[in-house]
Amino acid sequence: MEVNKIYCEDVFSFLDKLETASIDLAIIDPPYNLNRDQWDVFKTVDDFMTFTTKYLDKVIDLLKPTGSLYIFNTAFNSAMILNYLHSKGMHYKNWITWYKKDGFSACRKRFCNNQETILFFTKSDKVFTFNCDDIRMPYLSDARIKAAQSKGILKNGKRWFPNPNGKLCTDVWEFPSVRLTNKKNGKTIKQKHPTPKPEGMIERMILASSNSGDLVLDLFSGTGTTAYCSKKLGRNFIACDNNKDYCKLINERINSI
Ligand SMILES: C[S@@+](CC[C@H](N)C(=O)[O-])C[C@H]1O[C@@H](n2cnc3c(N)ncnc32)[C@H](O)[C@@H]1O
Repeated sequence: MEVNKIYCEDVFSFLDKLETASIDLAIIDPPYNLNRDQWDVFKTVDDFMTFTTKYLDKVIDLLKPTGSLYIFNTAFNSAMILNYLHSKGMHYKNWITWYKKDGFSACRKRFCNNQETILFFTKSDKVFTFNCDDIRMPYLSDARIKAAQSKGILKNGKRWFPNPNGKLCTDVWEFPSVRLTNKKNGKTIKQKHPTPKPEGMIERMILASSNSGDLVLDLFSGTGTTAYCSKKLGRNFIACDNNKDYCKLINERINSI
């Protein structure tokens, strides 16, 4: 199949056409069973998990032995997905919490939900790409870092000097949702897609878990954030969504680079 292309078709017919062990990195932003749109509705949790495990089985086959997988979902669904991936011999690396500081939900019978989950798994336990220096985060305390720059800080008998590019990336990621960043005169604008993901977040996954020229699978592409960021960062991509209007949007977005 041709790479750097968006395939407008059902996820299962698309996955069946891909070559086994050809993907370096899979970024999967699937339905969550939250009724966000008609594609996000399942009769039961079992139906949802049958759909989910069916595409996951195919993705596992398509990953190279050194490949990595990131999958978004709710915390509840992620617990079941984690269990399933583990049972299939995939290697658990992180439960990443996307903390949506600006999120709004009005729950009065339990704590308000302000997060989504991203599971990070690799096919091999030891041999996989992880470019920790490409995704460093700013240190919190400027003053402490400035003081440490010249003489370092004494830690366990050794002198520690701050890295000029920041600290190693943690598993709690703070990004505002796209819906709340796109405002006009203080009001949120109606979007062409209900659930686009922030570019900064997808870029972090691509930078960490792939190298220039690698092949990134953008499954359930939506507005094509993963395909777009892959192209921007010099990776190849292969993307799929079954909605013609979204596919048109993705092509426009990709061609804008
Ligand atoms: C959560 S959204 C992805 C959003 C995307 N990450 C972004 O940043 O724009 C899920 C997408 O899956 C697509 N989808 C749902 N069921 C599908 C299926 N069976 N085959 C292909 N695409 C499907 C929907 O059209 C929707 O755009």
